[in-house]
Amino acid sequence: MAEDLAGAVAALDPREVVAPVPRRLFGSFVEHMGRCVYTGIYEPGHPTAGPDGFRGDVLDLVSELGVTLVRYPGGNFVSGYRWEDGVGPVEERPTRLNLAWRTTEPNTFGLGEFMSWARRAGVEPMLAVNLGTRGIAEALDLVEYCNHPGGTTLSDLRAAHGDPEPYGVRMWCLGNEMDGPWQLGHRTPQEYARLATETARALRQVDAGLELVACGSSGRAMPTFGQWEEAVLEASYDLVDQISAHAYYEIDGDDLASFLASSVDIDAFVSDVVAVADRVGDKLGSDKRIMISFDEWNVWYLKRHMGSPAVEGWPVVARVSEDDFTVADAVVVGSLLVTLLRRSDRVAAACLAQLVNAIGAIRTEPGGPAWRQSIFHPFAQAAGLARGEVLRVDVRAPLVATSRYGDVPAVDLVATWNGGSAGSSGSDGDAGLRVFAVNRSVDAALPLQVDVDRFGPLRLHAATVLADADPFAVNTREQPDRVRPVPLEGAVLDGGTLRATLPPVSWTVLDLRPVPVDPAAG
Ligand code: AHR
Repeated sequence: MAEDLAGAVAALDPREVVAPVPRRLFGSFVEHMGRCVYTGIYEPGHPTAGPDGFRGDVLDLVSELGVTLVRYPGGNFVSGYRWEDGVGPVEERPTRLNLAWRTTEPNTFGLGEFMSWARRAGVEPMLAVNLGTRGIAEALDLVEYCNHPGGTTLSDLRAAHGDPEPYGVRMWCLGNEMDGPWQLGHRTPQEYARLATETARALRQVDAGLELVACGSSGRAMPTFGQWEEAVLEASYDLVDQISAHAYYEIDGDDLASFLASSVDIDAFVSDVVAVADRVGDKLGSDKRIMISFDEWNVWYLKRHMGSPAVEGWPVVARVSEDDFTVADAVVVGSLLVTLLRRSDRVAAACLAQLVNAIGAIRTEPGGPAWRQSIFHPFAQAAGLARGEVLRVDVRAPLVATSRYGDVPAVDLVATWNGGSAGSSGSDGDAGLRVFAVNRSVDAALPLQVDVDRFGPLRLHAATVLADADPFAVNTREQPDRVRPVPLEGAVLDGGTLRATLPPVSWTVLDLRPVPVDPAAG
């Protein structure tokens, strides 16, 4: 029976550990889509760009965003891509059709540029091979070009292109969304299962240390969902490490309540994939556990995208899916992060799709400024502050009614603890207990009370909230900081109890630090 609660209550315990915070959970995605690359991360001649053409203002924002891993070059784009087009002297590179996004691909930015951008940005690269229009041979060539130290035609070519040291790329996607009929070369579950298995087997002969991600479903509503994962994993279980999952959410009409509860779906998505993967593992008698790479997730105004006129005339640069994200979108992104963290025992990596302009957390104008979208903030705060271990937390909260998911708790939260044993000295600058919370009620401010008594002496270092009287407020070129976190008034640590009031449609971060132990005190 539902409790009649006036507010949300939770108790935290440092011993209740889900998993170490996976740093790869704070990944993102750069695809040759719209203006993600051209006039996004790469714009020769921009006032902030150096000789390499990388926009300095975007690099600064990527660093502030705290991204750890970046997937490249697609996405749908990769299924028609020839990686060789994007290496070597730029003036010799071919110009091709980008069939996924109906633009012309000049190939002035390719693999070598991406690797040097990734080094500048301090992120781990995650590459995808084309299993749509190409196959095992081209994937083998790409891995050899990237990771073989030297002494072969392809590895020496990399050196001749200016990179004598192997790239050492660990994470590789075996194609992209091969279950989707929109994908160039899309397959049946059995066809893809065989192709992924044989590609994985072959790639491991070049580099045994690769971490391979098989394509899972491109959405939980796909007709082959479940059956696809089962077929793929039955064939490839011993050869792959992760299976991918992709999920995008958007508001349906004016149903804000259901939209704010979108994390119910991503949580069920993780449970479903884990159930299939473990069933296959058990059937095969394997102790190995397949992890999930949630390598595309975000809010995406997909209906608007599908309804907008097709890009005409094959331009190099087109504005595709440049969504202006709202306060509500930021709260949904925050709640999706809460869920991904909470499921980090099985979600090893995740990529916010995408990084710049196309569905991007960062927006740019060609020749002009770059600014933070609303969704930038929950991501940056979680990436910057989630450290140590994710804690299991049981939240009790008033319920909100949604037409899509039934009654859901209005407040959801997750906590991370980086402090070693209770009562640690707190000398580590990253040490602390962090609580990330969303209030999904469309109209009610709710008190939150969290028992933090088991962590030794703590102090409330900072409390911030992202909320607005208008849940549809956005950041624009003219008002780039309209939506951002501000100090949360009234948050207190009262003995071992943390208290705060969460406004409706809000994302809150509570940052508690250990009180340093005075060694002189007896
Ligand atoms: O991120 C945008 C697109 O969404 C990707 O290209 C594709 O993989 C997915 O359908």
